[in-house]
Amino acid sequence: MNDKDRIYIFDTTLRDGEQSPGASLDAKSKLEIARQLAELGVDVIEAGFPITSPGDAAAIRKIAEEVKGPTICALARTVQKDMDVALETLRGAKKSRLHVFIATSEIHRKYKLNKAKDEILKIAAWAVKYARNRIGEVEFSPEDASRTEPAFLYQVIQAVIEAGAGVVNIPDTVGYAVPFEFGNLIKGIFENVPNAGKAVISVHCHNDLGLAVANSLAAVRFGARQVECTLNGIGERAGNAALEEIVMALDTRKDVFKKVTRIRRDQICKTSRLVSSLTGMVVQPNKAVVGRNAFTHESGIHQDGLLKLRKTYEIMHPADVGFGETQLVLGKHSGRHALENRLKKLGYHLNEKELDLVFQDFKVLADKKKEVFDEDLVALIEKEIVATPKTYRLLSLSVLTQTGKEPRVSIRLKSKSRVLEAGGTGSGPVDAAYKTVDQMIRRKAKLLDYQIRSVTVGKDAQGEVTVKIEGLAGEVITGRGVSTDVIEASVHAYLDAINKLLQKRRTFKKERIAYGV
Ligand code: KIV
Ligand code: ZN
Repeated sequence: MNDKDRIYIFDTTLRDGEQSPGASLDAKSKLEIARQLAELGVDVIEAGFPITSPGDAAAIRKIAEEVKGPTICALARTVQKDMDVALETLRGAKKSRLHVFIATSEIHRKYKLNKAKDEILKIAAWAVKYARNRIGEVEFSPEDASRTEPAFLYQVIQAVIEAGAGVVNIPDTVGYAVPFEFGNLIKGIFENVPNAGKAVISVHCHNDLGLAVANSLAAVRFGARQVECTLNGIGERAGNAALEEIVMALDTRKDVFKKVTRIRRDQICKTSRLVSSLTGMVVQPNKAVVGRNAFTHESGIHQDGLLKLRKTYEIMHPADVGFGETQLVLGKHSGRHALENRLKKLGYHLNEKELDLVFQDFKVLADKKKEVFDEDLVALIEKEIVATPKTYRLLSLSVLTQTGKEPRVSIRLKSKSRVLEAGGTGSGPVDAAYKTVDQMIRRKAKLLDYQIRSVTVGKDAQGEVTVKIEGLAGEVITGRGVSTDVIEASVHAYLDAINKLLQKRRTFKKERIAYGV
């Protein structure tokens, strides 16, 4: 196969994916994910949208300096300040790309930008030229392309390619397109834009109607050569096309698509888990390719078929995507070195101090739980390393429940050097614990969602609680907690969300000062 048969995978987990409500990532988590994306073999990492915050800019700078292999890309509006900030963050990268965008559809022109077609055309070409004079690779996106009048879209594409865009990305920004129509749009571009062959045509599909992957594949069928996607399909609103589904569809149905990617498929599940654990976005069990049930056969007829010949009911082999058996890795006699090795295999590179913390927790857990699985280790890392600075830390919790009586809890928290202590009741033990915490920290967060699942199998499995809370400014924050005691896990999750909310407010204040607003 030659290069024309190759589909470039542009991963936007760290940019569009991070725009998922409640999924914000700190710089350290972004770097961890970027390193794993490089292992996975993506062609481009869109690391962020630097003008949105100095924190995001710093994370992109670090990724550009440290992550080798993929092209590192940053997003900017067609505004000089945006582009200058983004160009600066990319300076340390070996291979870099600036991605600029402006909306082109009538509804966006009229109601959002208040600009006429010829103004948009001029700005788009000017921005691409400006960027192209400062960086080797420029990608341009006409936002809301799928709702743009085709004739105008063709004009914009022709102009930005003339101005130097090497990649033109066609976003279905609001997930409105349907596959045959989106495929035809790509076909129309090749038929009507005279210089279309000089650029890579890319697609970026949102999943509002559940069609992001289908639309992306239809576009590939008609000549798109780059697909923008995210792990687990996370992203704005209903998310983006899921990387694992795009890659496995192209691979499983190469008889139809006749295209290849450079993705190392055996890294898919590991990357999916890392993204899920660092963003706090739980993967639904029936999610294609990476969901817990993706390779589980329940029906007796299916199981019988599988035993006779796997291919009767399995179109992909779980091992191909790194969907191993839950691995029993370590026990209470395992040492620090074994733990460090295993963590590296899971994609975590800890410094000495971090490893000490996780090792301490690991020993405590191994005493309670005979078998420590990979998922347990990921949960420990999250608790000790990824967690935000802890304004409030749980020191102890006791719970008294009795049939027919309201449960009673008593809680001790540490806040800086102070120890806070209180007790309370509620309609259930979790309700009692959350009411008591609210009273102790003298603020009330609105609980939007509470979910509990077991990290691994078995009666001694750790429980993992994920909560979503809403702050006063309407911000949605996700918190996670794990413990072999589910009420304790619930309190950890709630405090994690509150600590993140407080951290976010502190960062917001600093950013307002840095940007002079
Ligand atoms: O959905 C969209 O249109 C985008 C662009 C910035 C590419 O995310
Ligand atoms: Zn998008």
